[in-house]
Order: sequence, then structure tokens, then C-alpha cells
Amino acid sequence: MKISQRVQALAESATLAVTAKAAAMKAEGIDVLSFGAGEPDFDTPQNVKDAAIAALKAGQTKYSKPASGLPAAKQAVCTKLARENDLTYEPAQVIVTAGGKMACALAIQATIDPGDEVIIPVPYWVSYPEMVKLAGGVPVFVEGAEDNRFKITPEQLAAAITPKTRMLIFNSPSNPGGFTYDPAEVRALAAVVADTDIVVLSDEIYDRLLYNGQQFLSFAACGPDAYARTLTLNGGSKTYSMTGWRIGYAAGPEPVIKAMAKLQSQGTSGACTFVQHGLIEALTADQSAVEQMRAAFEQRARHIHERLSALPGVRCNPPTGAFYAFPNVSGAFGRLGVQGSVEFAAQVLEQARVAVVPGVAFGADACVRFSFACGMEQIDEGLDRIANLLG
Ligand SMILES: Cc1ncc(COP(=O)(O)O)c(C=O)c1O
Repeated sequence: MKISQRVQALAESATLAVTAKAAAMKAEGIDVLSFGAGEPDFDTPQNVKDAAIAALKAGQTKYSKPASGLPAAKQAVCTKLARENDLTYEPAQVIVTAGGKMACALAIQATIDPGDEVIIPVPYWVSYPEMVKLAGGVPVFVEGAEDNRFKITPEQLAAAITPKTRMLIFNSPSNPGGFTYDPAEVRALAAVVADTDIVVLSDEIYDRLLYNGQQFLSFAACGPDAYARTLTLNGGSKTYSMTGWRIGYAAGPEPVIKAMAKLQSQGTSGACTFVQHGLIEALTADQSAVEQMRAAFEQRARHIHERLSALPGVRCNPPTGAFYAFPNVSGAFGRLGVQGSVEFAAQVLEQARVAVVPGVAFGADACVRFSFACGMEQIDEGLDRIANLLG
């Protein structure tokens, strides 16, 4: 059967591929330690589960009405964005989706025409360029310098803008970089796109996972200009450990949200109804579970950074957000006789039985990504194994 050219041109998600390979090796009885997963190792908080179970028992088993999200779920999103992000949105400016990934895909499909340029800072989350290409858009990559913690500067952003630029995808805290833009840096980037017709897709899915007492600033909260041009994206996956629930959301200018809702009505018919009740609970109830998880990630961030920095041929910026370390391992390529991050990751998997994701999937072939969404013991055991391999 013929496969469409659009889909033939699409790359598979490298992160999902690595986790699948590690899982297959485990199933064969091989003792693999995986640092591949982009999901918290904690369970979903009990109150969130209870809310979904109660909704299920109460018969909340029909289509989401409307498909763009239950009114109470949209209201809960508005409550969260006002409370934590200093953003005032009306429910009509909100869409609830089957995961943040879906919100991102809908936003791109709703705004990008063939030939439109989309600025994507490097390293980037694997799905951004593929989603842009699927819409016929042209990814324009802007490389963050490693000694600037992989963050792009306002000058770099300004230089990348052309008459065809239609969107900037901004992601802080970052997957895969584990870096964060501080409020002054976010404001400086917002000043560059001010008074243009560029849409900003601000992927804030890791907004609650910041370390060392940093402050988070939403792109849309930089001022009226930023608010008017930004789509703010978030979800339950990372903050409330709800990856398998598939629940996310976006907020922004009403015409764009309406366009995304139209697409969603012809696609998934919306997020699962009783899962939306779980999201309402997650966003509006006591938030102490979030802080417990954040504090655990913060400890792990420090520890994995120490361990990675001690490896020969490896240098690593300290992770300041999300749950990823993104070391430059190119100094160890010669030692292992490999060229590039794919061969490095393959050697580490075969010889040390440790799964990491090749940085080339995120646009940075000198690096690999370690997710530290795993216990301290695994971090130590995994890093011991790699230390032995690298000698
Ligand atoms: C940067 C970023 N954005 C969005 C998502 C989407 O997450 P989900 O679809 O589980 O809400 C992820 C998940 O890995 C991510 O890392």
C-alpha cells in the first residue's frame, strides 16, 4: 500500500525508539538501565486518580462537550495560568487536548502555511521540526552556544528573522537541554519579536520544574505585545506525572484557539472526558505533590551533573530545569572509536547496558540526553557502568 510522501518524509521519534529498544532488551532478560524516558518515575497523585475514577463512576463516559474541552476543564486551566503564570485568559481562549504534543501539532497546523518559516532554537524537542514540515513549513534552526548553556541570544533571533518568518517555537525549561531562560532573557527575546507578525508558540510543559530558586516567566506575561502573539502550551504529563493520561492544553488569541478546536473536532473529537476531570483536580487542588517531585528532581539534577562532569571526555552544563542532562560527549568519541552520538549511544547500550538518547535527534550530534526521571540508585549504577566503559 502506498504511503503518503508527507509521512514518508517524517522521522520517527528517536526518544520513543530508544525507550522501546531498551524495553525490548529488558524483555529478553538483559539488565538495561534506561535514561531514555521523558516521563517522571513518580505515580500520578492519588487525588487526581480519585477524581478521574469518581468521574468514571458518575458516568462521565461520553464525548467531551464541546470537543475543545469541558467548560470546567477550561476554567481550571484559566485558574492555573492566573495563579502561577500571571496570565489572564477567558475559557474561550483555551483548548484542552489529548496531550501537550497534540496542542503543539494543532497550533502548528492552524497557523503555518507551506513555505512559512518557523524559527526553532537548537537543541530542540524532537517533534517540533517534524510537525513544522508536516504543515509544509520550513524549520529555521538557530543554534544555542554550549557556553551559553545552549540558549539563543536576542541577536541570534533577530538575525534569523526574514519576511517569511511566521513562528518562533520557544521552550523553557528545555527538553533536551535541561536549561532555563531567566525572566530578563525571556523579556529580551520578546522585545525582538515585538511589532512583527510572528506567532510565538511557548511550550511551558516544564514550567514547574525549576531548580536553584529560579523564577519562571511565561513568554505571554512579558507584556501586552507578547500576550497578543503567544500561544501558551502546557499539560498534565510532566507536572503531575500524567504522561499516560494524554492530557494537555493551550491558551492564546481566540481566533487561533477556535481554529485549533475546529481541527480537533475533525481529528480526535477532543480529550477523554473522565481524564479531563483528573486534570481539573490536578490544576485546582493542593499542589504539595508537585513540590515533592520538583525537590526530588532538583537533588537528582545536582547529582547526575556531578557524576557526568567526572567522566573522562565529557562536559556538562548543570541542568537548571526539566529532568534532562545534556552532556557533550564528543571528547569520548575517540576513546570508544565512534563517530557521532548515534554510534556513541549504541556502544553505551551494547557494552554498558545503559540507554541514552543520541543528541543528533535534538540537533546536537556532540551530545547525548540523559533523563534523570529515575531513582538515585539507578543514576549511580548507570554512571558507574559508563565510567567503567570510558575507563
Ligand atoms: C518539550 C515538550 N513539549 C511537549 C511535550 C508533550 O508532552 P505530552 O504530549 O505528554 O503532554 C513533551 C514531552 O516529552 C516535551 O518534552
